[in-house]
Amino acid sequence: MANVVIVGMQLGDEGKGKIVDLLCPAFDVVVRYQGGHNAGHTVRFRDQHCSLHLIPSGILHAGMLCVLGNGMVVAPDALLGELARLYEAGVRFDGRLFLSNRAHVLLPCHAELDKAREESQGAGKIGTTSRGIGPAYESKVSRFGLRMVDLFAPDLEERLRLLLSRIQHELTHLKGEPLASPAAYADQCREWAERLKPSLRDTEQLLNTWIREGKDILFEGAQGALLDVDHGTYPYVTSSNSTAGGACTGTGVPPTRIHGAIGVLKAYTTRVGGGPFPSELAGSTADFLRSRGNEFGTTTGRPRRCGWFDAVVARYAQLLNGVDSVALTKLDVLDDFDEIPVCVSYKLHGETLRNLPPDRRSLEAAEPVLRTMKGWKCSTVGILDETELPQEARDYVDFIEQEIEAPVSFISTGPRREETIIRENESLVRLTSGRLGRVIEQR
Ligand code: GDP
Ligand code: IMO
Ligand code: MG
Repeated sequence: MANVVIVGMQLGDEGKGKIVDLLCPAFDVVVRYQGGHNAGHTVRFRDQHCSLHLIPSGILHAGMLCVLGNGMVVAPDALLGELARLYEAGVRFDGRLFLSNRAHVLLPCHAELDKAREESQGAGKIGTTSRGIGPAYESKVSRFGLRMVDLFAPDLEERLRLLLSRIQHELTHLKGEPLASPAAYADQCREWAERLKPSLRDTEQLLNTWIREGKDILFEGAQGALLDVDHGTYPYVTSSNSTAGGACTGTGVPPTRIHGAIGVLKAYTTRVGGGPFPSELAGSTADFLRSRGNEFGTTTGRPRRCGWFDAVVARYAQLLNGVDSVALTKLDVLDDFDEIPVCVSYKLHGETLRNLPPDRRSLEAAEPVLRTMKGWKCSTVGILDETELPQEARDYVDFIEQEIEAPVSFISTGPRREETIIRENESLVRLTSGRLGRVIEQR
């Protein structure tokens, strides 16, 4: 039996959706534990293509149980829209998709505040996805937020009045538009509540019951370690705990019932929105990576900032997540380079830093210390057998393993599920409860 967390080890968009989808045959349940529809997880297999924002990537596997955990902030309209799109695409989820009663409700007023704040900030803005994620988590922590179960409360309108007045207060200050009335919000919320009711459960009970029954759970992280509100490049972070620890608080599954973690690492680095990025590239090399890697946001369509692989970031992410195994994605995107620089440390005021500094100013001033790896200059697209990888590509993988001190168990050589090298090793066999054969078969 194994319950396993999938985490992003950089700044999001590492390819978590692909890896979750690939691993589904070894698990019975996929649960999201934090974030909301700021996430955009892409799954591709054969000629199918699907972008998921709130719903776990496991939904595309018939029979897979899927849960939106209590640690998420869920916009009912976005969820219903995503379900409708999936239904249209032929996905059936009756009786296998569950939403926590304790998940917080993200309302249109949260998104309006998010947008108004960003517009008022000018150059110093965070560059959020403008979905309302920060304001929704603020309502939660300030204790006037609404949880899914509260949508059925007799005093719903009163509670909305308090929430809306707090948000209107700041919106007025930012010269935002007046919000709809509490009565109008209450009517809308009751309608959403009726539609979502069949999926609502005490998911902490459900998940722990399934664990007792011997089901294996995959925890699908959103964002990445450096966007974690505690550990990331604050204040340029999201508002939840995207590191592996979030899996416990965000689902109600205790740490003693989680058996390991798999980290997803992109072979280079990208960032969407503002914030420090020491290994960032400019000019034609960045443009090349962006177009070759199709680095445009799944959620907002924004061009992603691109840079070299940063081992300082990866080592820090490993410190925080302690992953047993790594999935290295987008190796194929580096196919055409003569040389591939990697950032191994930072230079700051004449000093060499191997660890990520905590403050924004140092991160902004840090210069990358680059080591140059030899490129392989041939196509790795779709390679399935490790022995077919050119030696230089294998050296690149070895370098990453040495930095992280964990085995690279998956090497992704294309966006599709079938474009993945799977390296069988002890840790992977343990984390997939002996079902690795099924993963390989269904790849
Ligand atoms: P996530 O947010 O971590 O799930 O990642 P996204 O889905 O936002 O972004 C990853 C993008 O890279 C998606 O468009 C994937 O289809 C694509 N992708 C994933 N793995 C690979 C790979 O190995 N090679 C290439 N070329 N694309 C990949
Ligand atoms: P997935 O799960 C990449 C970034 C935003 C912004 C910051 C705060 O697809 O990897 P927010 O809207 O969360 O308040 O924005 O976090 N961000 C992401 N970047 N991938 C994501 O998710 C992201 N979710 C949020 O661009 O810089
Ligand atoms: Mg994404």
